[in-house]
Amino acid sequence: MINRIAVIGTGYVGLTTGACFAHLGHEVICADIIPEKIESLRRGEIPIHEAGLQELVKEGIASGLLKFVLGAENAVGDAEFVYLCVPTPQGADGSADLSYIQAAAGEISAKLRSGTVVVNKSTVPVGSTHLVEQALGRSDIPVVSNPEFLREGSAVDDFLNPDRVVIGSDDRAAAAQVAALYLGVRAPIMVTDPASAETTKYAANAFLATKLSFTNAIAAVCEAVGADVNDVLLGIGYDSRIGHEFLRPGPGWGGSCFPKDTRAIITIAEESGYDFSLLKGVVSVNEEQFDRTVRKVTNMVDVDGATVAMLGLAFKAGTDDIRESPALEMAKRLVAKGAKVKGFDPAVSAVDLEGLEVVGDAYAACEGASALIVATEWDEFKWLDLDKIAGLMVEHHVVDSRNLLDRGALRRRGFTYQGVGRS
Ligand code: UDX
Repeated sequence: MINRIAVIGTGYVGLTTGACFAHLGHEVICADIIPEKIESLRRGEIPIHEAGLQELVKEGIASGLLKFVLGAENAVGDAEFVYLCVPTPQGADGSADLSYIQAAAGEISAKLRSGTVVVNKSTVPVGSTHLVEQALGRSDIPVVSNPEFLREGSAVDDFLNPDRVVIGSDDRAAAAQVAALYLGVRAPIMVTDPASAETTKYAANAFLATKLSFTNAIAAVCEAVGADVNDVLLGIGYDSRIGHEFLRPGPGWGGSCFPKDTRAIITIAEESGYDFSLLKGVVSVNEEQFDRTVRKVTNMVDVDGATVAMLGLAFKAGTDDIRESPALEMAKRLVAKGAKVKGFDPAVSAVDLEGLEVVGDAYAACEGASALIVATEWDEFKWLDLDKIAGLMVEHHVVDSRNLLDRGALRRRGFTYQGVGRS
């Protein structure tokens, strides 16, 4: 069945949601408050680096199923479903700031037809479904929680081929209507109450962050005892209770979700009287990981006054997002120690950080550098001309925080090389 859906907010969650629902055959109107953004979206130009999204947006525009309007109030009048996909940034005390979501709900309230289902997709503290109900102030509008589990860089694929769809509402009929929107998507659909749906989102991200900090901690143990983390992780990953996914050691985790959501659930727990010390440990292991990686560089070379080349600035490969990027955490620490950092990222052209110069290619980053640090796992870094890099650098030290480069090939060329969790 074709439904009319309004999506409020065209960030990576809103735009992916809108374009994918149009791809599934629904009529979708996406709204944002920024006029230039709406103008460029109407032309099929998308403001983010997201695999497959541009194609879906163009497809939706061409089929007439995907439209863009300025202002939420202009999108919702005819809608049977309204998806709220506005930001929930971290507030000053670590909790999520709900002002955008409340403002959006308040703005659309008077325009909604009776029976329209309002769906919250933003990541919000437990109890927010009820806050949205209050902001709407209408007993004839059911509110449903439908959290997203989209990874940046593979958001379209995650939407269309999800591991599961979670729907939370006290109104089971409304929950069933939302479930029906996903016809054509092969995935278990789970219906529960709003608090459980909201908690599921935080619990998933907290668990994944825990898995990563655990991985990085095991990498540190491997370095200390002379084991190879790749083999150790392969060895534990074959245990089906553990699995191979999300076991890549790195410079620490970052991005727009994990740092914000782990802090938020720590605060939520605290406010409810539970000290989530396990997750506090997970967060501090992550901070230590930035320091540990930088220490590998400073143990090799005196960075005060030296140039350090940084390959990768985005928080992971496949995205241009630098929010809470481990690369920038490391750059800040290196700059504080007197280094000049020259960074290159295939998807990032500018970063506002004193002491970090963003250059146009990997070789320009290496020119005059005493050390090279791999911060983001872009595939293309594997194929760099190592002889050329050796000729450009003044000293030959490599810290590979993603175990990406060919350590044998580097050592043969006289580089000192240190990866993560293996010698
Ligand atoms: C995450 C969740 O995966 C997604 O379900 C949620 O909805 C939003 O947050 P995202 O932030 O896009 O998605 O990135 P993700 O791929 O999960 O990576 C997060 C961080 O962990 C990155 O810094 C990445 O480099 C790091 N990471 C990931 C590792 O270091 N090792 C891994 O094995 C996987």
